[in-house]
Amino acid sequence: MTAGNGDGALALRSFDITAARARYPALADGYAYLDGAAGTQVPASVIEAIAAAYRAGIGNLGGAFAASGRSGAIVAGARAAVADLVGAAADGVVFGPSATALAYRIADALSRAWTAGDDIVVSRLDHDSNVRPWIQAAGRAGVTVKWAEVDLVTGELPAEQYADLVGPRTRLVAVTAASNAIGTIPDVAAVAQFAHAMGALCYVDGVHATPHVPVDMAALGADFYTTSAYKWSGPHLAALAAAPELLETVWPDKLAPSSNAVPWRFERGTLPFADLAGATAAVDHLAGLAPHAAPVPGGTVPGGTVPGGAVPGRPVPGAPPASRRERIRASMAAVEAYESALFARLLGGLAELDRVTLYGKAARRTPTAFFNVAGVAPRAVAEHLAARGVNVWDGDNYAYELCTALGLEPGGAVRAGLVHYNDASDVDRLLAGVADLAR
Ligand SMILES: Cc1ncc(COP(=O)(O)O)c(C=O)c1O
Repeated sequence: MTAGNGDGALALRSFDITAARARYPALADGYAYLDGAAGTQVPASVIEAIAAAYRAGIGNLGGAFAASGRSGAIVAGARAAVADLVGAAADGVVFGPSATALAYRIADALSRAWTAGDDIVVSRLDHDSNVRPWIQAAGRAGVTVKWAEVDLVTGELPAEQYADLVGPRTRLVAVTAASNAIGTIPDVAAVAQFAHAMGALCYVDGVHATPHVPVDMAALGADFYTTSAYKWSGPHLAALAAAPELLETVWPDKLAPSSNAVPWRFERGTLPFADLAGATAAVDHLAGLAPHAAPVPGGTVPGGTVPGGAVPGRPVPGAPPASRRERIRASMAAVEAYESALFARLLGGLAELDRVTLYGKAARRTPTAFFNVAGVAPRAVAEHLAARGVNVWDGDNYAYELCTALGLEPGGAVRAGLVHYNDASDVDRLLAGVADLAR
């Protein structure tokens, strides 16, 4: 994320933060919710969609009655919504309880085709859910594990190292689209190119990135992309997206009578139908965050395509309405600009405090600050802030390899992460609370 001062002020003014916050009933409790990277609050529309599904009556799939049909429609709607969010095909969207569970599911299935002498590449930047499932599967298959390293000063994951790491026997490269600890957004497209050049698959953990930036799986070169709805204002469930043709080549363990079709065969047991209705509502919420946002290059604005000379953000008379995918891309571009400007305020404030050590300064990053206060345990910092109505996370946030490399285990650090419903007062309350300890 990069926003100069002038751009930043404009981004802060252009995003309707009052309207965004008003959609979240939980924010009325007065806390500064800076724990969004561990899970966001949900807007009323999501709560209502979940309640409406139950109120209307839902049944299990495949029945002869209307309530069963409603569940089928909810699942189809949620696949289409997640597909729009990440730029996938709806038939390639698999649901599961968590990104961790989905990674284990795919690691187990893919690794059956691996043989001794093959290798895989994981990264030291990743959340452990995109590391351990692969290492454990590799161990069972007798496959070598190679590590992509983080530059511990900058927090970057240099893409060039993959030229040496990926070889003709590499079967899979697992990499994050953004670090949930220090926010680094690596050059996934470059990493995927190295993987594809050697015939390897690229499994991208999009859990932390998805709430902060416009996502396009194809542009990333992601063969698999995971995202968890509870990080983007939805309920506690996750999705994995892949090309249906790729999923057709993969066979997970499954029950005999359950569907063999893609994507159903990857889903174990009964899906959480009402929560899936909530996931669709969350995607619609994101799509509507910046109704007057400028279009992303090559895209359209809500209200219609932007021909040469048209005013970005204004509906074009006679133009067809923008698709949800287009509205999401425009909204998320506005979210990225807004969060970036707010993050500059947060980072600037922390940098003024002598006893604060900040980890990571990648060129492109999510608005996620990871820091310690000299002489104060991360947990004690979090407790001090909690007593002042500021919610932050402490620990390693399962960025276990990174925290080990940084010498931060076992206590980790304090994480203050912004999402689109945070405002300047949240940031200022955090800074005031940390300043109590750090002066
Ligand atoms: C980057 C990243 N990957 C994976 C996960 C795990 O997600 P889930 O809880 O859906 O398994 C998280 C959760 O914090 C995360 O931040």
